[in-house]
Amino acid sequence: MSFSSKITFFFCCAILTFLSCKNEVKAPEQNTATSDIPDREWWKEAVVYQLYPRSFKDSDGDGVGDLKGIISKLDYLKSLGIDVIWLNPIYASPNDDNGYDISDYRDIMKEFGTMADFDALLKGMHERGIKLVMDLVVNHSSDEHEWFKQSRSSRNSPYRDYYHWWPAEKGKPNYRYSLFDINHDAWKYDTLTDAYYLHYFSRKQPDLNWENPQLRKEIRNIMKFWLDKGIDGFRLDAFTFAAKDINFPPLSEGYEKDFMPYYSMQPHLHEYLQELNREVLSKYDVMSVAEGAGNTPQDAHDLVDADRHELDMAYPFECVDIAKSSGYSVVHLKEAFSKWDSIFSQKGWVSIFLANHDQARMVSRFGNDSPAFRELSSKMLTTFILSMRGTPYYYNGDELGMTNIRFDNIEDYNDMPTLNEYQRLKKTGGDLTKFMEELKFSCRDNGRTPYQWNASNNAGFTTGKPWLKVNPNYTTINAAVEDADPNSVLNYFRKMIQLRKKELTLVYGKYTLLDAENPSTYSYTRELNGRKLLVMLNWKATAAKANTGIDLSKAKLLLGNYPAPLLDGNLRPYEAVILELN
Ligand code: GLC
Repeated sequence: MSFSSKITFFFCCAILTFLSCKNEVKAPEQNTATSDIPDREWWKEAVVYQLYPRSFKDSDGDGVGDLKGIISKLDYLKSLGIDVIWLNPIYASPNDDNGYDISDYRDIMKEFGTMADFDALLKGMHERGIKLVMDLVVNHSSDEHEWFKQSRSSRNSPYRDYYHWWPAEKGKPNYRYSLFDINHDAWKYDTLTDAYYLHYFSRKQPDLNWENPQLRKEIRNIMKFWLDKGIDGFRLDAFTFAAKDINFPPLSEGYEKDFMPYYSMQPHLHEYLQELNREVLSKYDVMSVAEGAGNTPQDAHDLVDADRHELDMAYPFECVDIAKSSGYSVVHLKEAFSKWDSIFSQKGWVSIFLANHDQARMVSRFGNDSPAFRELSSKMLTTFILSMRGTPYYYNGDELGMTNIRFDNIEDYNDMPTLNEYQRLKKTGGDLTKFMEELKFSCRDNGRTPYQWNASNNAGFTTGKPWLKVNPNYTTINAAVEDADPNSVLNYFRKMIQLRKKELTLVYGKYTLLDAENPSTYSYTRELNGRKLLVMLNWKATAAKANTGIDLSKAKLLLGNYPAPLLDGNLRPYEAVILELN
């Protein structure tokens, strides 16, 4: 080893030691013997709070949330008891898809602030013991990224192969479905070089070519850039789509109805992840979460089996996709969550969530947002997310019980794929009335309305005109009112987090589903090192009995969302209880 490489080696060791000290698991007071819990990790014990920066807090009156706005609310975030914030993209972007179209991976979106604001935000979070996970959007970039501009400029550009181009003289490429394009055609013809480029999402989101080693190196360097600033992990956006068969062979007819088997988990995906892990992730004490979980339980397992050195946790969509505007079956929901628990019962780790920025509001989809049940059902869903095995991901605003806004006019929506689909249906004579009704239940703008801080103008989110309308119910549903009310949804969320932190049984304990066929209730035990807890949840607006078969005469209440619960399995509408059995 030469002198200079020795210096580098020692320097790296010092940095790594510093990083791992920084991220050590602090032991909170526990009700469970912790000595023999295998494979403990800070990211398994963390509660992740997903923060949508565009809608959180605006500091400069332009109607768009920003980093200084978040900084001004750090003490509030700390008061929630959360451990990690997953921040949706804040990089430079022309905002075709609200930041999921990145034009410079090393810069901050102008509307959100500057790199100095970012550094201050990260410092403020770390000072409060909160970690930061960033979105890594590298299945595609923006068409306004310098790479794409160069790539597009000439067939001989060194950047040409950073993207997928198909020369027109070879004829039209085989059809590929685009999720966001107005015509759903993923190939866009470009006159400049007489060729088509591929975009699985919008035309302004060209797909990157992961076959190209130079591109992969660029991505690794971008990851190092942020990790060296001290961030604590990445969520890999749409990453299971990154690998592609670059011959683009014809696909079976009708595949666009279920394109996942053709788009997700293509050959080389695992190699790409192993390379990212080996060259970057393994060198830092950080967490990594996939978007999705592949196509099969085996894929999901392989993505996060610690021995394979790929990612830390999967984020499967099956459960969150169960809620439909026509309703859903509680039995089906239980089967789905239980299936995902069993996939990771021995190895690997899963995320538990009921909402995110791509979904409408949790209480409007899974609970009941009528005045009588909004608070109760929000608290019940909170009890669920925070008492399952896996890392809970909680979407901002759900801790207030924020609800769907249900716009009547298409002009009120902002979401690009929604607006494109509306135009497509209009052109092709589709049923627009039905489409507009469906949006009230499922459009992701429902989950993106500004955070409701208080009862002042625009819910205290901005002094300007908000980029998306504020839900008019902000006068009663807001953080200020709920902060002052000990029985609010917000304070229940805080209590539930504290309980999870005290009870490692809720993190690591074995999950056993009880009373599986009960159409109203969801009951399960969690067991670890001799400690046994029972969770009983009523998912319906009518009273129901949980038949767990467990003797409850000695059970002790740890938390519930009603005063004086009966502790005998009889549950009032949306009642939730967590009991200590031993
Ligand atoms: C992911 C993001 C979503 C985005 C899409 C394209 O699914 O969660 O918000 O629109 O990728 O980047």
